Amino acid sequence: MLLSDSPLQQSARDHLLLHFSRNGSANPLLVLERGEGPYVFDVEGNRYLDGLSSLFCAQLGYSYGEELASVAAAQLQQLAFSTVWGAAHPAAIALSEKLAEIMPGDLDHVFFTGGGSESVEAAWKLVRQYHVANGEPQRTKAIARDRAYHGVTLGALSFTGVPNYKEQFGPPAIPVTHVSNTNPFRGMRDDEDEAAFCRRLLDEVEAAVQAEGPETVAMIIMEPVQNAGGCLVPPDGYWPGLRELADRHGILLVSDEVICGFGRLGEWLGVERFGVVPDLATTAKGITSAYAPMGAVMVSDKVAAPLYDDPKRMLMHGITFAGHPLCAAIALRNLEVFERDEILENVRAQEPHLAAGLQSLEQLPIVGDARGAGFFWAIELVKDDENTRLDADERERILRGYLPGRLLEAGLIARPDDRGDACLHIAPPLISDAAVIDELVGKLGEVLTDAHDVLHGRASA
Ligand SMILES: Cc1ncc(COP(=O)(O)O)c(C=O)c1O
Repeated sequence: MLLSDSPLQQSARDHLLLHFSRNGSANPLLVLERGEGPYVFDVEGNRYLDGLSSLFCAQLGYSYGEELASVAAAQLQQLAFSTVWGAAHPAAIALSEKLAEIMPGDLDHVFFTGGGSESVEAAWKLVRQYHVANGEPQRTKAIARDRAYHGVTLGALSFTGVPNYKEQFGPPAIPVTHVSNTNPFRGMRDDEDEAAFCRRLLDEVEAAVQAEGPETVAMIIMEPVQNAGGCLVPPDGYWPGLRELADRHGILLVSDEVICGFGRLGEWLGVERFGVVPDLATTAKGITSAYAPMGAVMVSDKVAAPLYDDPKRMLMHGITFAGHPLCAAIALRNLEVFERDEILENVRAQEPHLAAGLQSLEQLPIVGDARGAGFFWAIELVKDDENTRLDADERERILRGYLPGRLLEAGLIARPDDRGDACLHIAPPLISDAAVIDELVGKLGEVLTDAHDVLHGRASA
């Protein structure tokens, strides 16, 4: 454990602004230096199981550096940079061809970006340009879900449904109605079964569309499984219901795959699990397994058509570094590694073991619910067997005070989060085998047992 500030930590405190962090906090600062398989090591050599895949990014873990570095070196020596503005280069072409091959349905066109927020904003601009080209410029609104995170740049922030991420930054750039998320643990009524729950949620989406005026709604954007709020898996029939509703009203359906895409749910796109092909899919993170930063919007034939139909029509959006040859070459090899080393197959094979391990933790009184899909899980923390929610003081004490240090002490990285209810997010690298999963579940058991004692004042933090 890092107990006192080293020069490196002090330098970080002096100069490095940490994102979404309390920069003035006196808590020990974790400084990670290297990785190996599903593990990362801090500057003092302490090993941590990366139970969050570095924010849902490190699909391959950390041992593919040599292979990807050789791809990167070859690309940098051949063509270090070129844009995809009015010209192309082989690395971006090869990657778009590969993406078109592996994506479901007719998602055969790619608009590259630099990351998730840029993908979400680019999707909005593509959606707008589609409607304008089709003579429906009045489609200016969107539907998203409460608590959902779709990024923080000012366009993407409009879709994000976490109130305190938005408060300081003025009115949203895009009018967005946020509908209920799909949390069966908290949101399903006693007299409802899954089908009735699903119907009620879809009725709410329909009501929101009607309230706005169906002819004014441009897109619906949702994650296949919503992260914020704690891995909210939709009820059966939800995504097909969204697809039907969107089609009936001429609205485009966007699946935000920034987390769920590239294997997190055991498929190339998470939404494939729910039997639906969206009109657009926003991706980032896993497209390179974070060996380089990149994002991409997958676009269907229908949405791309107006961009090709009129030779004078200009795609009115562009980002200098999007489709960077270095990132494109790494992404392509990442996808080839997925196939060669059977990464999707590993997620599908290990999912039942991970699910059983995490759900076994429900016997701990502090665990109200363990939910998720694929390698994407959340454990909802509660006060007692009645599943009483933690109050604000308890969340501060346990999620921000106790757990961060205790998790590191146990050699585990996981994410305490209370954008919705109090949760611990778990998302191991997709290469994790049964032994790694057992280690993960064992460490969680230890930490959560202690957290319960601290919560109830039976041990000190
Ligand atoms: C679903 C979703 N959309 C968009 C984003 C924004 O991505 P980025 O942080 O790369 O801008 C995130 C980030 O975690 C995300 O989870």
